[in-house]
Amino acid sequence: MSRTAHILAQPIMFPFSGKIAKNRFMKSAMSERLATFSTYDSDERGQPTEELIRLYDTWSRGDIGILITGNIQIKHDHLEATGNAIIDWDLPSDYVDEFSKLARAAKARGSLVIGQLSHPGRQVSINIQPYPESASDIEQPPAGGVVFGRPSPLTRPAIQDIVDRFAFSACVLHQAGFDGVQLHAAHGFLLAQFLSRRTNQRKDEFGGTLANRSRLLFQIIAAIRTTVNDPKFIISVKLNSQDFTQDGFSANESREIAMRLEQAGVDLIELSGGTYELAISSSHSAQERTPAVAREAYFLDFAEQLRPHIKRTKVAVTGGFRSAAIMAKAVDERAADIIGLGRPLTAEPLLVKELIAGEKTQAKGDKFPEGQLIRMAAAASQIAEIGNGMDITDFDNGFNVSRFLAKLQKEMPATMSEALSSHNSIRR
Ligand SMILES: Cc1cc2nc3c(=O)[nH]c(=O)nc-3n(C[C@H](O)[C@H](O)[C@H](O)COP(=O)(O)O)c2cc1C
Repeated sequence: MSRTAHILAQPIMFPFSGKIAKNRFMKSAMSERLATFSTYDSDERGQPTEELIRLYDTWSRGDIGILITGNIQIKHDHLEATGNAIIDWDLPSDYVDEFSKLARAAKARGSLVIGQLSHPGRQVSINIQPYPESASDIEQPPAGGVVFGRPSPLTRPAIQDIVDRFAFSACVLHQAGFDGVQLHAAHGFLLAQFLSRRTNQRKDEFGGTLANRSRLLFQIIAAIRTTVNDPKFIISVKLNSQDFTQDGFSANESREIAMRLEQAGVDLIELSGGTYELAISSSHSAQERTPAVAREAYFLDFAEQLRPHIKRTKVAVTGGFRSAAIMAKAVDERAADIIGLGRPLTAEPLLVKELIAGEKTQAKGDKFPEGQLIRMAAAASQIAEIGNGMDITDFDNGFNVSRFLAKLQKEMPATMSEALSSHNSIRR
């Protein structure tokens, strides 16, 4: 085995749960949109489908140490997208069975499986929820052709309800056989809206100081601990290294929160960045001006600075990793304990296995013009293909790219198409 493969193939133990991931690879959360959805009958929403189970069965064959599911919503009427999986006590209780099937498929070949729990807050399309809820009443500007309603600030009892719902969802996943949960506190969703000064202008104990803005996150962690009551259950948090907005959530604040997460017994912090508003969570924008090697792993610099402050909690870095050499360097130099991969695993679900076997040293490229929204749409379509048992479209093939772009233009609402073209021209 090459030195690169050897470094990446090392198992890793989480400090608080004692659970062991078989290698340093993690499939990061990617919204699958393969659960049931009905506009009118909310009882018909959010249930895992055969397609979702097939998707995780496929990833389980890929020898990936940790599989994080796409965002599972804690309220059936506050969704990131139609087709999100949902765990909500208002929905029929046989949902546990369905999540057990998902856990079994994902864990069949020794991966750890962690369910990502989320609430979109103000970041929910007006078509799904015209009356969003958030920390404050600051509206999300239209982005990527999606329009958002003006949010109502959550009352104290409504905040308590959200804490209880996160804990309930974690309990369901625990019963269903998941190894842990990840709280989505990045990319501008509800927990990130509380963390950011820009979107949280509350005057009560949930706003103002960083301690207050992070109160909701830490209350949820405490509630999960009490409700699940199993020290072997992993708690993870996905955190922005910063949100790249003025007066939002800074790198120093992110470091402070990471240190407190360690004190709270969080096993795994995944570092990412940006907000949907900026579409930077998967954007190369800042990196496009930097040399090719530095483009990989957008948030690695921050992880390197964070490292000396975190003693036990494991740190995963996600965003942009494409070559085994750079992944191994990040692990070897202890900037990251774990390498998070998103889009490379929709193009090549077995990539990790092939990297460890030394059959590949690099993720597949693509022939898309600049513009990350298109790449996200492409990854989403590959997810649907895998779920449906179809061949995965190879976007390293120019013809397939042209065909995909033409299809997008035809199917997309005009606003979205406009947003994509202006996004592209900015990037160029
Ligand atoms: C189709 C798609 C859906 C995503 N959904 C989620 C999600 O549900 N939760 C989340 O935390 N990140 C989500 N992400 C972001 C990824 O986890 C990851 O941070 C991002 O793709 C950058 O990593 P990459 O360069 O390896 O793709 C999504 C990304 C894609 C492409």
